Amino acid sequence: MKRLWRVQVLQHGIFTLFLLLLVLTWTQANDDVLMLMAFKKFSVTSDRHAVLVNWTDTSSSPCSWHGVTCSPDGRVSTLDLSYAGLVGSLHLPNLTAMSALRGLYLQGNSFSAGDLSASSSCMLETLDLSSNNFSDAFPGQGQSFFSSCDRLAYVNMSRNSIPGAGGRIPFGLSLLQLDLSRNKISDSALLAYSLSSCQNLNLLNFSDNKLGGKLSVTSISCKNFSILDLSYNLLSGEIPPSFVADSLNLKHLDLSFNNFSGEFSFLNFRCCRNLTVLKLSGNNLSDTQFPTSLASCTLLEVFDLSHMGLKNNIPGSLLGNLKNLRHLSLSHNQFTA
Ligand SMILES: *[C@@H]1O[C@H](CO)[C@@H](O)[C@H](O)[C@H]1NC(C)=O
Ligand SMILES: *[C@@H]1O[C@H](CO)[C@@H](O)[C@H](O)[C@H]1NC(C)=O
Ligand SMILES: *[C@@H]1O[C@H](CO)[C@@H](O)[C@H](O)[C@H]1NC(C)=O
Ligand SMILES: *[C@@H]1O[C@H](CO)[C@@H](O)[C@H](O)[C@H]1NC(C)=O
Ligand SMILES: *[C@@H]1O[C@H](CO)[C@@H](O)[C@H](O)[C@H]1NC(C)=O
Ligand SMILES: *[C@@H]1O[C@H](CO)[C@@H](O)[C@H](O)[C@H]1NC(C)=O
Ligand SMILES: *[C@@H]1O[C@H](CO)[C@@H](O)[C@H](O)[C@H]1NC(C)=O
Ligand SMILES: *[C@@H]1O[C@H](CO)[C@@H](O)[C@H](O)[C@H]1NC(C)=O
Ligand SMILES: *[C@@H]1O[C@H](CO)[C@@H](O)[C@H](O)[C@H]1NC(C)=O
Repeated sequence: MKRLWRVQVLQHGIFTLFLLLLVLTWTQANDDVLMLMAFKKFSVTSDRHAVLVNWTDTSSSPCSWHGVTCSPDGRVSTLDLSYAGLVGSLHLPNLTAMSALRGLYLQGNSFSAGDLSASSSCMLETLDLSSNNFSDAFPGQGQSFFSSCDRLAYVNMSRNSIPGAGGRIPFGLSLLQLDLSRNKISDSALLAYSLSSCQNLNLLNFSDNKLGGKLSVTSISCKNFSILDLSYNLLSGEIPPSFVADSLNLKHLDLSFNNFSGEFSFLNFRCCRNLTVLKLSGNNLSDTQFPTSLASCTLLEVFDLSHMGLKNNIPGSLLGNLKNLRHLSLSHNQFTA
């Protein structure tokens, strides 16, 4: 009798727990509906391709809505509305409140910044806001999504009109790739800060911005740095000799089309054993001597020295050492035969 009672209590308990879990999942999925509807209401002012017409709060599950992908338990895990022709001012708190959302792809729309802070339940790993209409400096500290979304690994804000970030971005340990190319960033402190606080970053792209002044980096702190693109800016003065020497793990270094000057041979390439792409074209380095340390770059595949006004011929013995070279660009120089 007593035993039967216990079994019943146990069964009852399991049933209640099951019910509770069901209700909890249902409530969370319903919260996702609320948040997506809030995004539609607060962030989107024009939807000329009517991609969001099927987003209505009468449906209990958003998993079949255009752009939405769910995890097996019915929570929203990615939202992909790239190139959807949406116009509006983005309020990220609504979307980041969905605690199962891992990927947010809004590239190729016309969003500007409404509120780029994030909910504390943000679990985003990928954020792609490239090719939009963002034109404000995003908050460098405190409320920006960088500080709330501490799992972010990939952030792409390229092809907007962002002027900077108030000098710094609170890099998290999780951030691996940051693409800020083709903006209007003139905030050189942001570059210096990025290189000295970059934690686990392996890609940083500042190409085609308005960074000026000297490359005032004392040491690069990125432990796993692999790709750095600073091409098409207005950086000038000497490339600090330690800059190249410090970039131990770099595979891809692009400094082309800036206004760097100074003596080419001062650059120390002795540690650049991992370098496969090196682009220095469109600068004004003087070449009374060619840096012989370049011979250490045995993995070099792409080497671009065009548009540099070089006069002295490159030692053949050096090129002979670069056995992996596939693409050597020497056009627009002043070599003599
Ligand atoms: C929206 O729903 C209608 C039917 O209700 C369907 O014909 C249409 O393909 C859906 N559109 C999208 C973008 O899912
Ligand atoms: C969505 O964001 C707007 C604007 O920030 C806010 O007023 C609203 O309360 C949010 N909605 C939800 C459901 O969190
Ligand atoms: C882009 O933003 C500017 C203001 O920053 C606004 O005047 C313009 O209409 C926006 N363009 C589009 C296509 O939304
Ligand atoms: C960022 O987005 C642009 C398109 O908007 C793309 O071309 C570029 O490859 C992306 N960057 C990274 C690092 O994936
Ligand atoms: C950096 O961004 C520019 C412009 O978006 C792109 O053309 C270039 O390929 C990127 N560099 C790297 C190394 O990915
Ligand atoms: C270092 O970066 C490479 C990609 O460039 C990645 O595969 C590897 O996991 C990273 N290592 C660490 C410790 O983050
Ligand atoms: C080159 O890369 C490897 C991993 O890819 C790393 O262990 C090594 O420290 C890097 N640097 C040099 C100078 O070889
Ligand atoms: C490039 O650098 C030279 C000095 O090396 C300076 O006179 C010139 O103004 C700079 N040009 C630009 C566009 O910054
Ligand atoms: C290149 O640098 C030399 C001195 O190092 C200077 O005389 C010349 O004007 C510079 N050329 C340009 C295009 O900045």
